[in-house]
Amino acid sequence: MQGDNDGLASFWMPFTANRAYKAHPRQIVSASGMHYQSGDGRTILDGTAGLWCSNAGHCRTEIAAAMARAAATLDFAPTFQLGHPAAFELAQRLAALMPPGLDRIFFTNSGSESVDTALKIALAVQRARGQGTRTRLIGRERGYHGVGFGGISVGGIVGNRRAFALLPGADHLRHTHDPARNAFSRGFPPHGAELADDLQRLVDLHGAETIAAVIVEPMAGSTGVLLPPVGYLERLRAICDRNGILLIFDEVITAFGRVGAATAAQAWGVTPDILTMAKGLTNAAVPMGAVAVKRELHDAVIESAPGGIELAHGYTYSGHPLACAAGLAALDLYAREGLFERAAELAPYWEAAAHGLRGRRHIVDIRTIGLVAGMELEPRPDAPTARAMELFHRAFDAGLLVRATGDIIALSPPLIVEKAQIDQMFGMLGELLDTIA
Ligand SMILES: Cc1ncc(COP(=O)(O)O)c(C=O)c1O
Repeated sequence: MQGDNDGLASFWMPFTANRAYKAHPRQIVSASGMHYQSGDGRTILDGTAGLWCSNAGHCRTEIAAAMARAAATLDFAPTFQLGHPAAFELAQRLAALMPPGLDRIFFTNSGSESVDTALKIALAVQRARGQGTRTRLIGRERGYHGVGFGGISVGGIVGNRRAFALLPGADHLRHTHDPARNAFSRGFPPHGAELADDLQRLVDLHGAETIAAVIVEPMAGSTGVLLPPVGYLERLRAICDRNGILLIFDEVITAFGRVGAATAAQAWGVTPDILTMAKGLTNAAVPMGAVAVKRELHDAVIESAPGGIELAHGYTYSGHPLACAAGLAALDLYAREGLFERAAELAPYWEAAAHGLRGRRHIVDIRTIGLVAGMELEPRPDAPTARAMELFHRAFDAGLLVRATGDIIALSPPLIVEKAQIDQMFGMLGELLDTIA
Protein backbone atom coordinates (compact mmCIF):
# COMPACT_ATOMS: atom_id res chain seq x y z
CA MET A 1 0.00 0.00 0.00
CA GLN A 2 1.14 3.54 -0.61
CA GLY A 3 2.83 5.68 2.02
CA ASP A 4 1.56 8.98 3.39
CA ASN A 5 3.50 10.99 0.85
CA ASP A 6 2.11 9.21 -2.16
CA GLY A 7 0.00 11.64 -4.19
CA LEU A 8 -2.78 9.09 -4.58
CA ALA A 9 -2.99 7.82 -1.01
CA SER A 10 -5.32 10.34 0.59
CA PHE A 11 -8.29 9.99 -1.73
CA TRP A 12 -10.29 6.99 -0.49
CA MET A 13 -11.96 6.29 -3.80
CA PRO A 14 -15.65 5.34 -3.97
CA PHE A 15 -16.71 1.95 -5.39
CA THR A 16 -13.10 1.37 -6.40
CA ALA A 17 -10.54 -1.35 -5.81
CA ASN A 18 -8.24 1.24 -4.26
CA ARG A 19 -5.15 -0.97 -4.15
CA ALA A 20 -5.49 -2.07 -7.75
CA TYR A 21 -6.25 1.45 -8.98
CA LYS A 22 -3.36 3.04 -7.12
CA ALA A 23 -0.99 0.40 -8.44
CA HIS A 24 -2.12 1.21 -12.03
CA PRO A 25 -3.82 4.63 -12.00
CA ARG A 26 -5.79 5.82 -15.00
CA GLN A 27 -6.73 9.47 -14.85
CA ILE A 28 -9.01 11.73 -16.82
CA VAL A 29 -7.99 15.36 -17.06
CA SER A 30 -10.43 17.05 -19.43
CA ALA A 31 -13.50 16.44 -21.55
CA SER A 32 -15.34 17.82 -24.55
CA GLY A 33 -18.42 16.54 -26.36
CA MET A 34 -18.10 12.78 -26.84
CA HIS A 35 -14.53 12.54 -25.55
CA TYR A 36 -12.34 12.49 -22.49
CA GLN A 37 -8.60 13.21 -22.41
CA SER A 38 -6.55 10.86 -20.28
CA GLY A 39 -3.68 11.94 -18.06
CA ASP A 40 -1.23 10.35 -20.49
CA GLY A 41 -2.57 12.47 -23.34
CA ARG A 42 -4.91 10.05 -25.10
CA THR A 43 -8.41 10.75 -26.42
CA ILE A 44 -11.04 8.39 -24.98
CA LEU A 45 -14.44 7.94 -26.64
CA ASP A 46 -17.07 8.13 -23.90
CA GLY A 47 -19.32 5.09 -24.22
CA THR A 48 -20.98 5.67 -20.86
CA ALA A 49 -21.83 9.39 -20.62
CA GLY A 50 -19.50 9.42 -17.62
CA LEU A 51 -21.63 7.36 -15.26
CA TRP A 52 -24.89 7.46 -17.23
CA CYS A 53 -25.10 11.20 -16.66
CA SER A 54 -23.58 13.58 -19.25
CA ASN A 55 -26.44 13.13 -21.68
CA ALA A 56 -25.69 16.25 -23.76
CA GLY A 57 -21.98 15.47 -23.94
CA HIS A 58 -19.20 17.07 -21.94
CA CYS A 59 -18.28 20.65 -21.10
CA ARG A 60 -21.21 22.21 -22.86
CA THR A 61 -20.46 25.93 -22.94
CA GLU A 62 -24.11 26.93 -22.36
CA ILE A 63 -24.17 25.07 -19.05
CA ALA A 64 -20.74 26.30 -17.98
CA ALA A 65 -21.72 29.90 -18.76
CA ALA A 66 -24.99 29.62 -16.83
CA MET A 67 -23.13 28.21 -13.84
CA ALA A 68 -20.52 30.97 -13.98
CA ARG A 69 -23.25 33.62 -14.05
CA ALA A 70 -25.06 32.01 -11.13
CA ALA A 71 -21.91 31.67 -9.07
CA ALA A 72 -21.13 35.34 -9.53
CA THR A 73 -24.70 36.50 -8.83
CA LEU A 74 -25.99 34.35 -5.99
CA ASP A 75 -23.50 31.82 -4.67
CA PHE A 76 -25.84 30.38 -2.10
CA ALA A 77 -29.23 31.03 -0.59
CA PRO A 78 -31.04 28.75 1.82
CA THR A 79 -34.28 27.15 0.67
CA PHE A 80 -35.40 26.55 4.26
CA GLN A 81 -38.07 29.21 4.89
CA LEU A 82 -36.55 31.28 2.05
CA GLY A 83 -36.30 30.82 -1.68
CA HIS A 84 -34.65 32.09 -4.84
CA PRO A 85 -36.17 32.40 -8.31
CA ALA A 86 -34.13 29.72 -10.10
CA ALA A 87 -35.33 26.97 -7.75
CA PHE A 88 -38.98 27.79 -8.42
CA GLU A 89 -38.33 28.10 -12.14
CA LEU A 90 -36.53 24.78 -12.38
CA ALA A 91 -39.24 23.02 -10.35
CA GLN A 92 -41.87 24.39 -12.72
CA ARG A 93 -39.88 23.34 -15.78
CA LEU A 94 -39.37 19.85 -14.39
CA ALA A 95 -43.03 19.53 -13.46
CA ALA A 96 -43.91 20.24 -17.09
CA LEU A 97 -41.47 17.54 -18.27
CA MET A 98 -42.67 14.79 -15.93
CA PRO A 99 -45.49 12.32 -16.56
CA PRO A 100 -48.90 14.00 -16.14
CA GLY A 101 -49.80 14.56 -12.50
CA LEU A 102 -46.28 14.36 -11.06
CA ASP A 103 -45.89 18.10 -10.74
CA ARG A 104 -44.56 18.64 -7.24
CA ILE A 105 -40.76 18.62 -7.07
CA PHE A 106 -38.43 18.13 -4.10
CA PHE A 107 -34.74 18.92 -4.72
CA THR A 108 -31.82 16.78 -3.52
CA ASN A 109 -28.14 16.54 -4.44
CA SER A 110 -27.76 12.99 -5.73
CA GLY A 111 -29.57 9.86 -6.74
CA SER A 112 -29.07 8.33 -3.31
CA GLU A 113 -30.65 11.34 -1.65
CA SER A 114 -33.51 11.25 -4.16
CA VAL A 115 -34.20 7.63 -3.26
CA ASP A 116 -34.16 8.20 0.49
CA THR A 117 -36.33 11.29 0.00
CA ALA A 118 -38.82 9.32 -2.10
CA LEU A 119 -39.04 6.56 0.52
CA LYS A 120 -39.59 9.12 3.29
CA ILE A 121 -42.24 10.93 1.25
CA ALA A 122 -44.01 7.60 0.69
CA LEU A 123 -44.10 6.99 4.45
CA ALA A 124 -45.31 10.55 5.05
CA VAL A 125 -48.08 10.16 2.47
CA GLN A 126 -49.31 6.93 4.02
CA ARG A 127 -49.38 8.54 7.48
CA ALA A 128 -51.17 11.57 6.09
CA ARG A 129 -53.81 9.29 4.57
CA GLY A 130 -54.42 7.64 7.94
CA GLN A 131 -52.43 4.56 6.89
CA GLY A 132 -49.67 4.81 9.47
CA THR A 133 -49.32 1.02 9.76
CA ARG A 134 -47.88 1.03 6.25
CA THR A 135 -44.17 1.24 7.03
CA ARG A 136 -42.77 -1.62 4.98
CA LEU A 137 -40.75 -0.75 1.87
CA ILE A 138 -40.35 -3.22 -0.98
CA GLY A 139 -37.48 -3.25 -3.46
CA ARG A 140 -36.25 -5.86 -5.90
CA GLU A 141 -33.36 -8.27 -6.06
CA ARG A 142 -30.50 -6.82 -8.12
CA GLY A 143 -31.98 -3.34 -7.76
CA TYR A 144 -29.62 -0.42 -7.25
CA HIS A 145 -30.97 2.57 -5.40
CA GLY A 146 -27.81 4.29 -4.28
CA VAL A 147 -26.00 4.00 -0.99
CA GLY A 148 -28.13 5.67 1.69
CA PHE A 149 -29.47 3.35 4.37
CA GLY A 150 -32.90 3.47 2.72
CA GLY A 151 -31.45 2.80 -0.69
CA ILE A 152 -29.35 -0.18 0.36
CA SER A 153 -32.26 -1.63 2.34
CA VAL A 154 -34.53 -1.75 -0.70
CA GLY A 155 -31.58 -2.38 -3.01
CA GLY A 156 -30.80 -5.91 -4.02
CA ILE A 157 -27.04 -6.11 -4.53
CA VAL A 158 -25.54 -8.22 -1.79
CA GLY A 159 -22.11 -6.60 -1.85
CA ASN A 160 -23.68 -3.23 -1.02
CA ARG A 161 -25.75 -4.64 1.84
CA ARG A 162 -23.89 -7.29 3.74
CA ALA A 163 -21.58 -5.05 5.73
CA PHE A 164 -24.23 -2.64 6.94
CA ALA A 165 -27.27 -2.54 9.20
CA LEU A 166 -30.47 -2.24 7.17
CA LEU A 167 -33.92 -0.76 7.69
CA PRO A 168 -36.25 -3.21 9.41
CA GLY A 169 -39.11 -4.63 7.38
CA ALA A 170 -37.76 -4.12 3.87
CA ASP A 171 -38.49 -6.98 1.50
CA HIS A 172 -37.77 -7.74 -2.14
CA LEU A 173 -39.42 -8.87 -5.33
CA ARG A 174 -37.53 -11.39 -7.41
CA HIS A 175 -35.44 -9.90 -10.20
CA THR A 176 -36.55 -10.22 -13.80
CA HIS A 177 -33.34 -11.48 -15.39
CA ASP A 178 -34.06 -14.73 -17.20
CA PRO A 179 -31.39 -15.42 -19.84
CA ALA A 180 -32.62 -18.99 -20.36
CA ARG A 181 -35.84 -17.64 -21.89
CA ASN A 182 -34.91 -14.10 -22.89
CA ALA A 183 -31.30 -14.02 -24.13
CA PHE A 184 -30.60 -11.62 -27.01
CA SER A 185 -33.92 -9.81 -26.64
CA ARG A 186 -34.21 -6.51 -28.46
CA GLY A 187 -36.16 -4.12 -26.26
CA PHE A 188 -38.41 -5.66 -23.63
CA PRO A 189 -37.85 -9.38 -23.14
CA PRO A 190 -40.94 -11.43 -24.01
CA HIS A 191 -41.08 -13.64 -20.91
CA GLY A 192 -41.58 -12.79 -17.26
CA ALA A 193 -44.59 -10.47 -16.77
CA GLU A 194 -45.77 -12.94 -14.14
CA LEU A 195 -42.75 -12.03 -11.98
CA ALA A 196 -44.71 -8.90 -11.01
CA ASP A 197 -47.07 -11.21 -9.13
CA ASP A 198 -44.30 -11.49 -6.58
CA LEU A 199 -45.71 -8.26 -5.18
CA GLN A 200 -49.02 -10.01 -4.58
CA ARG A 201 -47.10 -12.80 -2.83
CA LEU A 202 -45.55 -10.22 -0.48
CA VAL A 203 -48.95 -8.63 0.10
CA ASP A 204 -50.32 -12.07 1.02
CA LEU A 205 -47.32 -12.70 3.26
CA HIS A 206 -47.12 -9.39 5.12
CA GLY A 207 -50.59 -7.85 4.70
CA ALA A 208 -51.24 -4.87 2.42
CA GLU A 209 -51.80 -2.69 5.48
CA THR A 210 -48.08 -3.00 6.35
CA ILE A 211 -46.70 -1.99 2.94
CA ALA A 212 -46.09 1.68 2.12
CA ALA A 213 -44.38 1.53 -1.24
CA VAL A 214 -42.55 -0.52 -3.81
CA ILE A 215 -39.54 0.93 -5.59
CA VAL A 216 -38.09 -0.36 -8.85
CA GLU A 217 -35.86 0.93 -11.58
CA PRO A 218 -38.06 0.71 -14.69
CA MET A 219 -34.84 -0.54 -16.30
CA ALA A 220 -32.18 -1.75 -13.88
CA GLY A 221 -28.98 -0.11 -15.11
CA SER A 222 -26.20 -0.40 -12.57
CA THR A 223 -26.80 -4.08 -12.00
CA GLY A 224 -26.23 -4.83 -15.65
CA VAL A 225 -29.05 -3.56 -17.89
CA LEU A 226 -32.02 -5.70 -16.87
CA LEU A 227 -35.10 -4.78 -18.86
CA PRO A 228 -38.70 -5.17 -17.74
CA PRO A 229 -40.46 -8.07 -19.45
CA VAL A 230 -43.39 -7.14 -21.70
CA GLY A 231 -46.37 -6.32 -19.44
CA TYR A 232 -44.38 -6.43 -16.19
CA LEU A 233 -44.56 -2.75 -15.24
CA GLU A 234 -48.29 -2.58 -16.03
CA ARG A 235 -48.89 -5.58 -13.79
CA LEU A 236 -46.88 -4.06 -10.96
CA ARG A 237 -48.91 -0.86 -11.30
CA ALA A 238 -52.19 -2.80 -11.12
CA ILE A 239 -51.15 -4.73 -7.99
CA CYS A 240 -50.09 -1.47 -6.30
CA ASP A 241 -53.45 0.11 -7.14
CA ARG A 242 -55.41 -2.85 -5.82
CA ASN A 243 -53.54 -2.77 -2.54
CA GLY A 244 -53.04 0.92 -1.75
CA ILE A 245 -49.28 0.63 -2.31
CA LEU A 246 -47.37 3.58 -3.75
CA LEU A 247 -45.25 2.85 -6.82
CA ILE A 248 -41.88 4.59 -7.00
CA PHE A 249 -39.85 4.55 -10.21
CA ASP A 250 -36.17 5.15 -9.64
CA GLU A 251 -35.30 7.01 -12.85
CA VAL A 252 -31.89 8.27 -11.79
CA ILE A 253 -30.48 6.65 -14.94
CA THR A 254 -33.49 6.57 -17.25
CA ALA A 255 -34.74 10.16 -16.91
CA PHE A 256 -33.59 12.81 -19.40
CA GLY A 257 -33.66 10.96 -22.66
CA ARG A 258 -31.79 7.72 -22.08
CA VAL A 259 -34.69 5.61 -23.40
CA GLY A 260 -35.99 8.13 -25.91
CA ALA A 261 -38.33 10.28 -23.80
CA ALA A 262 -38.08 12.57 -20.78
CA THR A 263 -38.69 9.56 -18.53
CA ALA A 264 -39.04 5.81 -18.95
CA ALA A 265 -42.51 6.20 -17.44
CA GLN A 266 -43.54 8.26 -20.47
CA ALA A 267 -41.63 6.16 -22.97
CA TRP A 268 -43.24 2.97 -21.69
CA GLY A 269 -46.67 4.27 -20.68
CA VAL A 270 -46.74 3.36 -16.98
CA THR A 271 -47.06 6.20 -14.48
CA PRO A 272 -45.62 5.85 -11.00
CA ASP A 273 -46.76 7.84 -7.94
CA ILE A 274 -43.27 9.12 -7.19
CA LEU A 275 -40.27 9.39 -9.52
CA THR A 276 -36.62 9.93 -8.61
CA MET A 277 -34.05 11.58 -10.83
CA ALA A 278 -30.48 12.99 -10.69
CA LYS A 279 -27.55 12.58 -13.13
CA GLY A 280 -28.87 14.04 -16.42
CA LEU A 281 -30.81 16.73 -14.56
CA THR A 282 -27.78 19.03 -14.76
CA ASN A 283 -25.99 17.00 -17.44
CA ALA A 284 -23.86 16.07 -14.40
CA ALA A 285 -22.08 19.42 -14.54
CA VAL A 286 -22.84 19.83 -10.84
CA PRO A 287 -24.52 17.44 -8.41
CA MET A 288 -28.30 17.65 -8.21
CA GLY A 289 -31.21 15.29 -7.81
CA ALA A 290 -34.97 15.67 -7.55
CA VAL A 291 -38.11 13.76 -6.68
CA ALA A 292 -41.34 14.29 -8.60
CA VAL A 293 -44.51 13.52 -6.64
CA LYS A 294 -48.16 13.28 -7.71
CA ARG A 295 -49.91 16.46 -6.77
CA GLU A 296 -52.60 14.77 -4.65
CA LEU A 297 -49.96 12.94 -2.62
CA HIS A 298 -48.10 16.19 -1.99
CA ASP A 299 -51.40 17.85 -1.06
CA ALA A 300 -52.26 15.05 1.38
CA VAL A 301 -49.03 15.67 3.29
CA ILE A 302 -49.33 19.45 3.19
CA GLU A 303 -52.99 19.55 4.16
CA SER A 304 -52.83 16.98 6.93
CA ALA A 305 -50.14 18.89 8.81
CA PRO A 306 -51.48 20.93 11.72
CA GLY A 307 -49.45 23.99 10.63
CA GLY A 308 -45.76 24.78 10.50
CA ILE A 309 -43.32 22.57 8.61
CA GLU A 310 -45.26 19.83 6.81
CA LEU A 311 -42.38 17.49 5.94
CA ALA A 312 -39.40 17.43 8.29
CA HIS A 313 -36.89 16.74 5.56
CA GLY A 314 -34.49 18.68 3.35
CA TYR A 315 -30.85 19.33 2.55
CA THR A 316 -28.83 22.51 2.99
CA TYR A 317 -28.20 22.36 -0.74
CA SER A 318 -31.75 21.45 -1.88
CA GLY A 319 -32.21 23.72 -4.89
CA HIS A 320 -28.68 25.16 -4.77
CA PRO A 321 -28.48 28.21 -7.08
CA LEU A 322 -25.55 26.84 -9.09
CA ALA A 323 -27.28 23.50 -9.62
CA CYS A 324 -30.54 25.19 -10.58
CA ALA A 325 -28.70 27.28 -13.17
CA ALA A 326 -27.06 24.16 -14.57
CA GLY A 327 -30.41 22.33 -14.57
CA LEU A 328 -32.18 25.10 -16.45
CA ALA A 329 -29.38 25.31 -19.00
CA ALA A 330 -29.35 21.52 -19.43
CA LEU A 331 -33.12 21.39 -19.99
CA ASP A 332 -32.76 24.19 -22.57
CA LEU A 333 -30.06 22.22 -24.36
CA TYR A 334 -32.05 18.98 -24.34
CA ALA A 335 -35.03 20.81 -25.85
CA ARG A 336 -33.09 22.92 -28.35
CA GLU A 337 -31.13 19.97 -29.71
CA GLY A 338 -34.06 17.56 -29.47
CA LEU A 339 -31.83 15.07 -27.66
CA PHE A 340 -34.59 12.86 -26.23
CA GLU A 341 -36.05 12.46 -29.72
CA ARG A 342 -32.56 11.93 -31.11
CA ALA A 343 -32.06 9.03 -28.72
CA ALA A 344 -35.33 7.49 -29.91
CA GLU A 345 -34.33 7.95 -33.56
CA LEU A 346 -30.88 6.44 -33.08
CA ALA A 347 -32.15 3.49 -31.02
CA PRO A 348 -32.71 1.10 -33.98
CA TYR A 349 -29.22 1.79 -35.33
CA TRP A 350 -27.78 1.32 -31.86
CA GLU A 351 -29.69 -1.93 -31.38
CA ALA A 352 -28.47 -3.36 -34.68
CA ALA A 353 -24.86 -2.38 -33.95
CA ALA A 354 -24.94 -3.90 -30.47
CA HIS A 355 -26.55 -7.14 -31.59
CA GLY A 356 -23.94 -7.33 -34.32
CA LEU A 357 -21.63 -8.65 -31.60
CA ARG A 358 -23.77 -11.76 -31.14
CA GLY A 359 -21.62 -14.81 -31.74
CA ARG A 360 -18.39 -13.06 -30.78
CA ARG A 361 -16.11 -14.68 -28.27
CA HIS A 362 -17.32 -14.75 -24.62
CA ILE A 363 -20.71 -13.13 -25.37
CA VAL A 364 -23.67 -14.97 -23.79
CA ASP A 365 -26.31 -12.26 -23.99
CA ILE A 366 -26.90 -8.79 -25.46
CA ARG A 367 -29.73 -6.56 -24.22
CA THR A 368 -30.66 -3.19 -25.70
CA ILE A 369 -33.17 -0.40 -25.29
CA GLY A 370 -33.00 3.30 -26.14
CA LEU A 371 -29.31 4.23 -26.11
CA VAL A 372 -28.41 1.50 -23.63
CA ALA A 373 -26.70 -1.82 -24.24
CA GLY A 374 -25.71 -4.57 -21.83
CA MET A 375 -23.37 -7.27 -23.07
CA GLU A 376 -23.05 -10.23 -20.78
CA LEU A 377 -19.82 -12.23 -20.89
CA GLU A 378 -19.40 -15.79 -19.82
CA PRO A 379 -17.74 -15.62 -16.40
CA ARG A 380 -14.32 -17.19 -15.98
CA PRO A 381 -14.99 -20.34 -13.98
CA ASP A 382 -12.30 -19.52 -11.43
CA ALA A 383 -12.80 -15.74 -11.36
CA PRO A 384 -16.28 -14.30 -11.91
CA THR A 385 -16.28 -10.62 -13.00
CA ALA A 386 -12.55 -10.67 -13.93
CA ARG A 387 -13.17 -10.96 -17.67
CA ALA A 388 -15.41 -7.87 -17.85
CA MET A 389 -12.99 -5.90 -15.66
CA GLU A 390 -10.13 -6.83 -17.97
CA LEU A 391 -12.18 -5.74 -20.97
CA PHE A 392 -12.93 -2.44 -19.25
CA HIS A 393 -9.19 -1.83 -18.71
CA ARG A 394 -8.23 -2.88 -22.23
CA ALA A 395 -10.95 -0.68 -23.70
CA PHE A 396 -9.75 2.33 -21.72
CA ASP A 397 -6.20 1.72 -22.84
CA ALA A 398 -7.43 1.43 -26.43
CA GLY A 399 -9.41 4.69 -26.18
CA LEU A 400 -12.97 3.67 -25.24
CA LEU A 401 -14.76 4.12 -21.93
CA VAL A 402 -17.21 1.33 -21.10
CA ARG A 403 -18.65 0.26 -17.76
CA ALA A 404 -18.06 -3.14 -16.21
CA THR A 405 -20.57 -4.42 -13.70
CA GLY A 406 -20.26 -8.04 -12.67
CA ASP A 407 -19.68 -9.90 -15.94
CA ILE A 408 -21.63 -7.34 -17.91
CA ILE A 409 -20.30 -4.52 -20.06
CA ALA A 410 -22.77 -1.63 -20.13
CA LEU A 411 -22.81 1.13 -22.72
CA SER A 412 -24.85 4.33 -22.46
CA PRO A 413 -23.20 7.08 -24.52
CA PRO A 414 -24.10 10.77 -24.52
CA LEU A 415 -27.22 11.30 -26.62
CA ILE A 416 -25.18 13.39 -29.07
CA VAL A 417 -23.36 10.25 -30.24
CA GLU A 418 -22.91 9.95 -34.02
CA LYS A 419 -23.50 6.77 -36.02
CA ALA A 420 -19.81 6.55 -36.88
CA GLN A 421 -19.00 6.64 -33.16
CA ILE A 422 -21.51 3.86 -32.51
CA ASP A 423 -19.73 1.77 -35.15
CA GLN A 424 -16.41 2.64 -33.57
CA MET A 425 -17.57 1.51 -30.10
CA PHE A 426 -18.91 -1.86 -31.13
CA GLY A 427 -16.09 -2.38 -33.63
CA MET A 428 -13.50 -1.84 -30.91
CA LEU A 429 -15.34 -4.07 -28.47
CA GLY A 430 -15.56 -6.88 -31.01
CA GLU A 431 -11.82 -6.75 -31.58
CA LEU A 432 -11.01 -6.48 -27.89
CA LEU A 433 -13.16 -9.51 -27.06
CA ASP A 434 -10.82 -11.55 -29.25
CA THR A 435 -7.80 -10.39 -27.27
CA ILE A 436 -8.89 -11.46 -23.79
CA ALA A 437 -8.80 -14.96 -22.39
C1 LIG B 1 -31.21 3.78 -10.27
C2 LIG B 1 -30.23 4.50 -9.42
N1 LIG B 1 -30.62 5.02 -8.26
C3 LIG B 1 -29.78 5.69 -7.47
C4 LIG B 1 -28.48 5.89 -7.83
C5 LIG B 1 -27.55 6.62 -6.91
O1 LIG B 1 -27.19 7.84 -7.43
P1 LIG B 1 -25.95 8.65 -6.80
O2 LIG B 1 -24.72 7.88 -7.10
O3 LIG B 1 -26.04 9.99 -7.48
O4 LIG B 1 -26.21 8.76 -5.33
C6 LIG B 1 -28.02 5.37 -9.04
C7 LIG B 1 -26.63 5.56 -9.47
O5 LIG B 1 -26.17 5.03 -10.44
C8 LIG B 1 -28.92 4.66 -9.85
O6 LIG B 1 -28.53 4.12 -11.00
